[in-house]
Amino acid sequence: MIEVNQIKKKFYDKKNGNFYALKDISFTVNKGEIFGLLGPNGAGKTTLLRIMASIMQATSGHVKVNGYDSKNEAEAVKKSIAFLSGNTKLYKKLTPVETMRFFGKLYGIDKQLIEKRIDTILNTLDMYSFKDRVIEKLSTGQVQKTSIARCMIHDPQIYILDEPTLGLDILTSRTIIDFIQTEKTRGKTIIFSTHYMEEADTLCDRIGLIHEGDLIETGTLEELKLKTGKGNIREIFLSYIDRSEPFDRIK
Ligand SMILES: Nc1ncnc2c1ncn2[C@@H]1O[C@H](COP(=O)(O)OP(=O)(O)OP(=O)(O)O)[C@@H](O)[C@H]1O
Ligand SMILES: [Mg+2]
Repeated sequence: MIEVNQIKKKFYDKKNGNFYALKDISFTVNKGEIFGLLGPNGAGKTTLLRIMASIMQATSGHVKVNGYDSKNEAEAVKKSIAFLSGNTKLYKKLTPVETMRFFGKLYGIDKQLIEKRIDTILNTLDMYSFKDRVIEKLSTGQVQKTSIARCMIHDPQIYILDEPTLGLDILTSRTIIDFIQTEKTRGKTIIFSTHYMEEADTLCDRIGLIHEGDLIETGTLEELKLKTGKGNIREIFLSYIDRSEPFDRIK
C-alpha cells in the first residue's frame, strides 16, 4: 500500500524562479491495485514517483510505502519497491543475467534464490534470446526489459514504474503489460505513469490525472466516464486538461 499525504515540491529555475512542481498531492494506492498516473509533459509525474521511491525528498508532506516513511526509512522503502525510471543505470559490459546476479547480490539474496528468480524473470519478460548478450549490444526494448529485470530481482511488494513502455513496439509493450498484470495477480501493488491512453485503459484499476502539479481527479475508468459524460479515457483526459488553471508561481 502507498499513502501520499499533502506532498509539495518546490523547484527553482533561473527563468521562472521558485515554483511548485507538486502543489498539494494526496491519494492512496491500495494493496493489489494497479494505479495509473496520467498527465501532460511537465505535469509532475516523474517528480512524484521519485519522491515515492525515496530518490528525492518532498518540500513538505509525507509518503508511506509498505508502511515505511519515504523520508526517514528510505532504505526500507527501497527494499520494498522496484523503481523503474528513464535514468535506471545499467552496466554496459554486463549481460542481463550478470546484471540480475549483480543486483541480487547487492540486495543480499541467497545465491540459489537469485538463480531461481533469474529464471522466472527471463520467462516472464521473454528474455531468453538475449540473456547472455552484453547490454551495449541490446536493442531499446531489450534494454528496457533488462532495466525492469534489474529492479525486480528482489521480488518487491510494490512497483513504481515511470513510463515503462516508452518507445517500445507493441509486442514488447504487450509483454510488459502482461507482466504488470501477472504481478497484480501475485498481490503486488503497482503505480505507473504513461502517455499511452490504451494502456491506462487496459491496465488500471484506478487512474489519477495530474496537471501542472495538481492531482485534479482520481477514480476508476467507469467513475471518470460518469463524471465527465465522456466515452473513453482520451476524451476524459482532454476534458480535464482543457479546463485547468495555469501554474501558480511563488513570489
Ligand atoms: N530538478 C529540477 N529542477 C527544476 N525543475 C525541475 C526539476 N525536475 C523537474 N522539474 C520541473 O518540474 C516540472 C515537473 O517535471 P516532471 O519531470 O515531474 O514532469 P512529468 O509529468 O514527468 O513530464 P513528462 O511527461 O514530460 O515526463 C517540470 O516543469 C520540470 O521542468
Ligand atoms: Mg516524466
